[in-house]
Amino acid sequence: MLKIANHCHYHKAKAQQLIEGIKNYVIDAEVLLRIEDDSVALCTDLQQQTTCFTHSLLDPKLLARAIQKNQALIKACNNKKREIHSIIDLTAGWGRDSLILATHGQSVTMIEQNGLIYNCLNYLLSIAQHDSTQACFQNLNALNLNSLEYLNSEDYSMADCLYLDPMFPAHKSTALPSKDLQILQLMTTNLDIESLFEAALVRAKHRVVVKRPLHAPTLSNTKADIVYKEKTIRFDVYLTHNNVTV
Ligand SMILES: C[S@@+](CC[C@H](N)C(=O)[O-])C[C@H]1O[C@@H](n2cnc3c(N)ncnc32)[C@H](O)[C@@H]1O
Repeated sequence: MLKIANHCHYHKAKAQQLIEGIKNYVIDAEVLLRIEDDSVALCTDLQQQTTCFTHSLLDPKLLARAIQKNQALIKACNNKKREIHSIIDLTAGWGRDSLILATHGQSVTMIEQNGLIYNCLNYLLSIAQHDSTQACFQNLNALNLNSLEYLNSEDYSMADCLYLDPMFPAHKSTALPSKDLQILQLMTTNLDIESLFEAALVRAKHRVVVKRPLHAPTLSNTKADIVYKEKTIRFDVYLTHNNVTV
């Protein structure tokens, strides 16, 4: 069951819109959503301990990380010819990867199927667009849809790059994922990821980029054209060159 605690003072109308969007949201676990002026926190019991995940697009640590150059994500979603301007993040989640891409000048549409996560993300984005003068926030917008349906709909207009970051499968041999990830896994799920990936390959103008755990198999066992690695994750890049207007 979802409980809501609204502590918002300055953005009352935006908080009200968030509450309207999630008031009928059904979840088995006991979850408390705390709405603050520039953040949201989701709290629940994990291993008999109350644990909260707080998120804000104005978090200074997140913004400091976003401006770092030479990140594998930036390299994967770009190319030397600079022909990648528009990106659709097909699995937006909390929008952190999208924010990094938007900080580096890309225009990013974030698509999230889960109503609770989408409404929180949209609330945080509208506050950031209102309170901050940073250009990156104007490069972002959010939609509440199943991305597979969106890619197959008439509303889809071809993006230069389609980005996927599906939730990583739990691995028996490793420790529990981070608390943030455990809370995300409690709230939501991957929908149609392999079909989404296959649709993306025929819908992206220049490339599809998939974030994976470093040693995980590729999606649909399809070999990537380029791979950018970090310590624990990698980005598989598929060059598509679909120049047909949809
Ligand atoms: C691992 S999270 C993404 C985290 C994100 N990259 C970030 O930086 O915060 C994956 C998200 O994809 C969403 N998702 C999974 N399948 C989807 C689909 N078919 N359409 C839209 N969103 C989907 C899930 O609800 C979840 O919120």
